[in-house]
Formats: sequence, structure tokens, C-alpha cells
Amino acid sequence: MKNLLGKLTLLSMVGASLLMAKPNITILATGGTIAGAGDSSVNSSYSAGAVTVDKLLAAVPDINNMAEIKGEQISNIGSQEMTNEVWLKLAKRVNELLKKDNVDGVVITHGTDTMEATAYFLNLTVKSKKPIVLVGSMRSGSSMSPDGPLNLYNAVSVATSEKSLNKGVVVVMNDEIHSAREVTKTNTSAVNAFASVNTGKIGTVYYGNVNYYMTPLRKNTIDTEFDIEKIDKLPRVDIVYGHANDTAAFVEASVKAEAQGIVHAGMGNGNLFPKTQEALAIASSNGVVVARSSRVGTGRTNLHGEVDDEKLGFIATDNLNPQKARVLLMLGLTKTHNKAQLQEMFFKY
Ligand code: DGL
Repeated sequence: MKNLLGKLTLLSMVGASLLMAKPNITILATGGTIAGAGDSSVNSSYSAGAVTVDKLLAAVPDINNMAEIKGEQISNIGSQEMTNEVWLKLAKRVNELLKKDNVDGVVITHGTDTMEATAYFLNLTVKSKKPIVLVGSMRSGSSMSPDGPLNLYNAVSVATSEKSLNKGVVVVMNDEIHSAREVTKTNTSAVNAFASVNTGKIGTVYYGNVNYYMTPLRKNTIDTEFDIEKIDKLPRVDIVYGHANDTAAFVEASVKAEAQGIVHAGMGNGNLFPKTQEALAIASSNGVVVARSSRVGTGRTNLHGEVDDEKLGFIATDNLNPQKARVLLMLGLTKTHNKAQLQEMFFKY
């Protein structure tokens, strides 16, 4: 009897320790304002990426109460300097980490300028249903009322939450959870800069309390056809911004630079100035894939509007803004140059 009691006690202790075991979260740092530092709490000037991941973690000690944390420095740049090479390095490292049984989720600290594009790139290339959370800040850590520490705390709580499984890549900023496909930066400096302008946020996180209200419908992560493991270089895709009294010059420059795709940020429903449209039609006839997006900011760029896409050989980018459309077209071009297949990708991802 005594032996049985001893075994039961041991089992209950093991059970309790397993129940108490904290999730294992790896934080990958890339730079940005969240890792920024300036010389005054009220002076707006600062250097992005001045602080290493260890210092970032030291500023938010409470995250150690919710997870076993490991930190890695992937890069230390302002995200306006983001490159295809860092994207590929980041995606490959995330895939490598999330294959491990002892890694339950990944948080990526990132500058806010190109965070939406990196998030969407990972949404299309990471092969895991575990949580992948991008987070940044609009104020540097040395400024008055910095937003980074609580954003990082909330990002880690989202990454440790089982509710975050199977949600694709998400962005956590200012107590909100946004889908990588939908989120965009809508303000140059305000702490509530991020919004999902067409669909709304998918959840909220309040001092670590995670709640979801929607789940992404478009295919992502393990459900996409994109595999970057053997890719070291991505196709060149440029964005050309449309405006009144426009020109063919920037299209011609992009073609001369051997772009394989051009995203046009058009007026209204992706409309083009005649000279620009003519240059893009010539580019399309010579094999460059031309994708019509819009500079408007919300809404869908539709086929069969004022532009005869079939005659001109253009495709439309659904409701993706130009910077997101560029990401999908780059990855699409690693699979095919067939315009019908590429158009289908814009309706699927
Ligand atoms: N340099 C910008 C960047 O790294 C600052 C914006 C920020 O991180 O909030 O994206």
C-alpha cells in the first residue's frame, strides 16, 4: 500500500510539473524602433536597431513568467532597409525552429515600416500551424511612454496561447491582433498605426489576455504552394506609382532593370494614365507580368472595370495593397509565369 501511495505521489508531482511547464518561445530580433534608442526621452530622433535582443528581453522581465524564452539576432536594421536576403534567412530559420518539438511558437521583433510585407511573406512561406507573431513599436525604448515593452509582452502572450494555433502569421501592435494578409501601417507616427483596413482586426490582447473574434480565410502557411527552402534569390518585382499626367519612364526603367513583374499602384480601381498603360502593355507582351493594384488604400482592384485586362495582358491583385501584391507576385514567379495561374493565386492567398 505504502509503495502504491509513493508511486501515486510521484505521478501527481510529474503531472503537476507537466501542467506547470511553460511554453518554449523563441524571439527572433531583426531591428526596428522596438530595438531603437535615442539620447532623450522627449527628443523624437533615435537610431533603429540600436538595442540587441538580450537588452530587449531584459526590458520586459515579466515575459519569463509566461514562457521559457530564447532570443536570436537575425539582423539589426531599420525595416526600411529590409532585403529579400533577410526575408529568406528569417523564413528558413522560422521553419527550422518550428519543426522542433521543443519550440512552441516564434515572436519576431521588427521595424514597423515594412512589417506588413515581412509578415505576409512569412504567411506564404512558413510551413507550420504554430503561432508566428510579429511585433514592433512606434516609439523607441528610450522615449517617454514607450509602447514596445507592452507590445512585446502581448506578442509573447499571443505566441503562448493555444488560441493562436492555425491562425497563420499575425501582427500584434497596440493591444490588437491582425492577420498578416490584412494588416497595414496607416499612420506615420501614431501608436495606433496598424489596422486591417478591409476586414478589421482578428483579436485583442489586454495585458496578456488573448481573445480572437475571427480567423483568416485565405490559404496560408502549410496550405500554400510556396517552398523557399531551396531558394536563395527572389525574382525582381517593382512597384510603379500611378498619378495624373503620368509617364512611361518608370515602367521603361523597370523593364530595363530586368524586372520579371511590375505592380502598378493605380488610381481608383487600379486605373492607369494612357502613356503608362501603353508601356505596361508592351512590357506584358515581352513577358513581364503586370499586376494592377491601387493607391487608394481600401477596396478591391477588380477585373473587367475600366481596364481591358484580357487585351492588355494584365492581372488584378484582389484587395492586396501594392506592397503586399509585390510579395505574392515575387513568390508566384518562383512557381510560374503563366498569367492565368498567377491570377488564381491572387484569388487564393
Ligand atoms: N526605421 C523604422 C523601421 O525600422 C522605424 C519605424 C518603427 O520601427 O516603428 O521600420
